[in-house]
Amino acid sequence: MTDQTMTPEERAASLEGMGCRRKRVEDVRFTQGKGNYVDDVKLPGMLFGAFVRSPYAHARVKSIDAEAAKALPGVVAVLTAADLAPLGLHWMPTLAGDKQMVLADGKVLFQGQEVAFVVAEDRYLAADAVELVEVEYEELPVVTDPFKALEPDAPVLREDIKDQKEGAHGPRRHHNHIFTWEQGDRDATEKVLAEADVTVEEMIHYHRTHPCPLETCGCVASMDKATGKLTVWGTFQAPHAIRTVVSLISGIAEHNIRIISPDIGGGFGNKVGAYPGYVCSVVASIVTGRPVKWIENRMENLMSTAFARDYWMKGRIAATKDGRITGLWCHVTADHGGFDACADPTKFPAGFFNICTGSYDIPTAYLCVDGVYTNKAPGGVAYRCSFRVTEAAYFIERMVELLAIELNMDAAELRRINFIRKEQFPYASALGWEYDSGDYHTAWDKALKAVDYEWLRREQARRIEDFKAGRTRKLLGIGLSHFTEIVGAGPVKNCDILGLGMFDSCEIRIHPTGSAIARLGTISQGQGHATTFAQILASELGIPASDITVEEGDTDTAPYGLGTYGSRSTPVAGAATAMAARKIRAKAQMIAAWLLEVHDDDLEWDVDRFVVKGAPERFKTMKEIAFAAYNQAIPGLEPGLEAVSYYDPPNMTYPFGAYVCVMEIDVDTGEWKVRQFYALDDCGTRINPMIIEGQVHGGLTEALAIAMGQEIAYDEMGNVKTGTLMDFFIPTAWETPNYVTDHTVTPSPHHPIGAKGVGESPNVGGVPAFSNAVHDAFRAFGLRQAHMPHDHWRIWRIAENLGLHG
Ligand code: CDP
Repeated sequence: MTDQTMTPEERAASLEGMGCRRKRVEDVRFTQGKGNYVDDVKLPGMLFGAFVRSPYAHARVKSIDAEAAKALPGVVAVLTAADLAPLGLHWMPTLAGDKQMVLADGKVLFQGQEVAFVVAEDRYLAADAVELVEVEYEELPVVTDPFKALEPDAPVLREDIKDQKEGAHGPRRHHNHIFTWEQGDRDATEKVLAEADVTVEEMIHYHRTHPCPLETCGCVASMDKATGKLTVWGTFQAPHAIRTVVSLISGIAEHNIRIISPDIGGGFGNKVGAYPGYVCSVVASIVTGRPVKWIENRMENLMSTAFARDYWMKGRIAATKDGRITGLWCHVTADHGGFDACADPTKFPAGFFNICTGSYDIPTAYLCVDGVYTNKAPGGVAYRCSFRVTEAAYFIERMVELLAIELNMDAAELRRINFIRKEQFPYASALGWEYDSGDYHTAWDKALKAVDYEWLRREQARRIEDFKAGRTRKLLGIGLSHFTEIVGAGPVKNCDILGLGMFDSCEIRIHPTGSAIARLGTISQGQGHATTFAQILASELGIPASDITVEEGDTDTAPYGLGTYGSRSTPVAGAATAMAARKIRAKAQMIAAWLLEVHDDDLEWDVDRFVVKGAPERFKTMKEIAFAAYNQAIPGLEPGLEAVSYYDPPNMTYPFGAYVCVMEIDVDTGEWKVRQFYALDDCGTRINPMIIEGQVHGGLTEALAIAMGQEIAYDEMGNVKTGTLMDFFIPTAWETPNYVTDHTVTPSPHHPIGAKGVGESPNVGGVPAFSNAVHDAFRAFGLRQAHMPHDHWRIWRIAENLGLHG
């Protein structure tokens, strides 16, 4: 079959564009062990850095004696805060407008805090030298409870700012208080609650956990003294932002800094922030004139790099007798650890938590968040979520379940009568967002039908009878969740990080023979960007996806962008990709018109070519146009076929989904088994259905982990109790259930291809589905609220407290 004989449908299929289940091109390398991760970077003369870390959660550092370490053959340097202070680098700014010690400056505020940086000829020597550094500590009282941290006589944690009445986000009212952030109408909400037929009040805790990528954080810094150029390879989810920040902190001109994110073995938010390891490696490279590598071990990663969640959410919800929700009130006590290093857009100190009205048409709402310092690791990153959306979704999905209990209503029906209706979009929420599009009723009905919800409820009722009659010791929980996400930060007018506007970018070059390279400001960490961004281009440009190279992560070549996290790649860089392609197509149309000797307006686009209207035999393919762009002198047009787009989205996108989890629970052992999990996601236009399914499987498995066992737990002394993978739950194939995925398609009206993000949706919607299943199993026996994670011991305790063990 030739180009001319193929039908438009066949030509479209041969492009492997949007909608195609194209296999991931990345996997050819990855499955052959040919990935290139930061620890694969090996440079001549490279040194290795390792940290001396604090065993205490709160202590004064009386002295540091590094002489024995320095005397060890092969040790090149030992850096302490005293060495960094003359450079002004012993503290660094955090993404949240606070500052953080790079190396302990007089005291430590959490277990695992960086105290000294040893630089040696190899990693084993560095580890030995760490043991030889003598640090004298004086223990101080430890505070791990954010409520106790706010008591009047609580120990002062941040002595550096104890008298500072103003923080980065407004007034501070206590020495351990960071900020208060209010949204919505407090008086109106109080009034609705006071006058409501029904109200429910509950404390919902979303425990502290940690994104746990297979690859830990690390970098290689290499200062070339001859050229004055600093190159840093690292696990960076936002390489351009890191370049700008490094330039601002170090004073090195930005053009002399090259940041490279090579392959990244999972990010999930863990690799957004800047860590002391990066600063120390750069300084050590400048001081020694040699490349310096720093790679965290697993315990360091769990103990000291960015945590997630740790929100205490006090909620009140009001409704009419027949179940119409009339108001929502929420107060959050947010435990930020020793430094406020939350990775949120500047104007949103609690991220996008104000999406906590969820999928429901709630006319009145009020939210207040208090950020608090404690003796825990800093961070507050969006662990596979868009800036605290996961906490918000969990909060509202628990509140709705509690309201259903109070009203003695079916929780699915309560949701249905409160959903924002399709015709209400774009929908202005009571807490300040404009949801772009949605069709929640269709999704919900499809989900309930798919699992045969009515039948499941009948089975559950029979199970309860059997349990009461002593015929079984296993209960059945039906966990429902309908979530609305908010992904795709910008717009620049609302969203910046450290003053850097959150747009994104794509630059495309079409080569003379019709293949292409596209470079983006984002960086894949396993999401398959090289596969899917080529698919957008294939559909927009009529070039086969297999003829398009997608490159990310090198600031010397990629256009400036704010990186990949918060499912922003598709909503922002995906839009930039389409827009840059359209610029190319506009020029291609002019070239085709000249070649075909017709007016531009006489041409129409047909899959991979411009065709003269009414004369389908007269056309020029994109391949022909590309060749002409470089090789013909076309009057009034520059040679070449390239374009770049910097895309500032007009709004965020609001993907949504309907999930149902069916769980068996053994009352006597607390063991659980997910019998069925149905996940319907609506992420607008679907670029690659197979990659979407992969994203949903991965996100649900992380949600399972978080809901059912994963936790960063501390004892009262501030010791991390879950610092290894023996204690920190990572599901294996053994625990992971089969998932059934499904979808509806409600395009985003403002996105050039109608796509919304999807990577985080399953984590956002999955956690409430798993947790609601546990709660639902015990609903008939009086359970209202049990804090996550629902490990066997905690589930056993629920049963014990409800008197089910006889
Ligand atoms: O920003 P991040 O890549 O983590 O998240 P995303 O934008 O949700 O994209 C995750 C993966 O799913 C990418 O490979 C996207 O191209 C793909 N995706 C898709 O195929 N269709 C969508 N509507 C959204 C994402």
